[in-house]
Amino acid sequence: MKFDQPAGTNPIDQLKVVGRPTSRIDGPLKTTGTAPYAYERHDVVPNQAYGYIVGAAVAKGRIRRMDTSAAKAAPGVVTVVTTLDFPKPLPLGMQNIAHLFGGADVAHYHQAIAVVVADTFEQARAAAALIRTDYDRVPGRFDLAREAPNAPLEGGSSGEGSAAPAIDRIGDFAKAFAAAPVKVDRTYTTPDESHMMMEPFATIASWDGDKVTLWTSNQMIAWSKGSLAKILSIPPENVRLDSPYIGGGFGGKLFVRADAVCAALAARAARRPVKIAMQRPLMANNSTHRPATIQHVRLGATKDGRLTAIAHSSTSGNLPEGKPETAVSQTKLFYAAPNRETYMKLAVLDLPEGNAMRAPGEAPGLMVLEMAMDELAEALDMDPVELRAINDTQVDPEKPGTPFSERHYVECLRTGAGRFGWSRRNPKPAQVREGRWLIGMGMAGGFRGNILTKSAARIRLERNGRLTVETDMTDIGTGTYTILAQTAAEMMGVPLSQVDVKLGDSDFPKSAGSGGQWGANNATAGLYAACMKLREAVAQQLGFNSADVAFADGKVSAGGRSAALAEAARAGPLTAEDGFDPTDMGERWQQATFAAHFVEVAVDSFTGETRIRRMLAACDAGRILNPKAARSQVIGAMTMGVGAALMEELAVDTRFGFFVNHDLASYEVPVHADIPHQEVIFLDFPDDKSSPMKAKGVGELGLCGVGAAIANAIYNATGVRVRDYPITLDKHL
Ligand code: MOS
Repeated sequence: MKFDQPAGTNPIDQLKVVGRPTSRIDGPLKTTGTAPYAYERHDVVPNQAYGYIVGAAVAKGRIRRMDTSAAKAAPGVVTVVTTLDFPKPLPLGMQNIAHLFGGADVAHYHQAIAVVVADTFEQARAAAALIRTDYDRVPGRFDLAREAPNAPLEGGSSGEGSAAPAIDRIGDFAKAFAAAPVKVDRTYTTPDESHMMMEPFATIASWDGDKVTLWTSNQMIAWSKGSLAKILSIPPENVRLDSPYIGGGFGGKLFVRADAVCAALAARAARRPVKIAMQRPLMANNSTHRPATIQHVRLGATKDGRLTAIAHSSTSGNLPEGKPETAVSQTKLFYAAPNRETYMKLAVLDLPEGNAMRAPGEAPGLMVLEMAMDELAEALDMDPVELRAINDTQVDPEKPGTPFSERHYVECLRTGAGRFGWSRRNPKPAQVREGRWLIGMGMAGGFRGNILTKSAARIRLERNGRLTVETDMTDIGTGTYTILAQTAAEMMGVPLSQVDVKLGDSDFPKSAGSGGQWGANNATAGLYAACMKLREAVAQQLGFNSADVAFADGKVSAGGRSAALAEAARAGPLTAEDGFDPTDMGERWQQATFAAHFVEVAVDSFTGETRIRRMLAACDAGRILNPKAARSQVIGAMTMGVGAALMEELAVDTRFGFFVNHDLASYEVPVHADIPHQEVIFLDFPDDKSSPMKAKGVGELGLCGVGAAIANAIYNATGVRVRDYPITLDKHL
């Protein structure tokens, strides 16, 4: 189904099922521990052996020699596959920056160099410790500040390495900034962060002749099927992925990782199915992370707070051929100002691969931009909410001919401020005390793009009247099962309990997948298209004129006549398959989601310890398909924002080139006791240019801006401005 004009009124707008705060249909499986995650799929294939990955012990160099004889002779060992079994690195999968296996070169610490296969996990682990590897170590580049280049990255702030100008410019920033009566000119830093999802990378691989099946944990099934075909040098039709439940991804599972590649290689060598769960201590250095940034923001404004000049640059690092963290992307779109300049710099680092982590670009970009806005508000002696509201724009500031499809940022600011009690904030810092605690309030804006992409689905009306939905869409803990069931129930006029949803199998129609908060809108729109087709088939089967047929209460009716929906499948199941194809809708309008975050903190005046007291998010993200699931996404993201503001940091050992705190004990994330009551408000602005569902994403929006709101609250509490995240207590001193 081509989507090339605003969606008119359609069956989804009934909102009998869609738009309701339905509990997850997969909830009982999750809460009883019976949802089958990749490593637990003991029943999919017999005789599963255990694989254990060995990570490189140096950050950069070449393997001179590996001695696997003791490992091979160890009890229970089936086989050992080493990277030296392959003369050169295996091809890169989609979006991979580091090669995942093969060859003697080591590009980063904990790169997979061997996989040991044994009858039990313990045997594989014990044997892995017997492998002796000799390296020729070479010096590497590990310090972002030291390696930062002087020249902006070719390709400008899109970072797409094209021949575009290195600096994106509108107007004359230098002149306008020099002339601005009020300015901010500051440098800020954000650290490397790790996804640290609960479920590690995990795969069971099994070969049948030259065909391989991988029961795995992956956000983007079609991408990863293509990647595995390329990496393994086999045709895509010989690869099947199945990933029905995923214990968190946060962008780390967008692409194929070493668990899948090593399981496939090991299973081929062992002539036996092999299962691998990447051991926790390998997760941070073997996989990807959100790259650290050094960001420079300059804001110039008139005395009444109108922005005249905005400049934002970001420096990040990556392996050779890597991409930058696009931390300036929101700055191109968020606030009006006639003179603008954005660019990125990219350092070559020999640390593990930098890649997407929840709201890549905007998450670290807004931690900085929205702190700079707070500093500007203070310099102007202006309320931070007002400063943002008067600099709102309804068109793309760099392409004035392109309006936003829907943009209700100002409503987010006003609604959030009202509900939070923002007017009670004392704008002068360090004034409010409760015993030893300094109390402060802060706010920040949130922005995240709304990406439209193709997505297909299949729906079948079974003989018994039940509906079965099939798509390779994934549920990374976000509620996909539920919103797809709601969509089918609404479209076909049946109760939710009559819909079965099957996900994550590469044999199913190709969906948008889960990434970039595009999953909910695009995947439900794809199913909407399939349902429209099924409605036609049903109407035809029952002899109705399809133009005016109503589907409600399990019945199909038109012109005073009515029949049970199940009647249409009496002769056999009816199947329809179609997809959502947004063509150029994403270019005719700027599409984005907006939020305003408000936070109250208490900072211990003696120790600098920060406690979050209250958090509130007001979100403008199109139609909310399921307010309960969406709220869960946003409060989870707000929690991640607390981590980013106060705790999360991969500590780089700049001598040896690795992330030191590479386990859940030493990589700090918030726990329940760190998180207070959180409130989420969804504004009701369906976006008919986003899809027939009129929805958008919220999974990443909830994180965007949270860190800055906390930083700004800490400043309001203490009068100490920390520009180096995370804001740990030592930095107040
Ligand atoms: Mo998201 S970082 O695109 O899963």
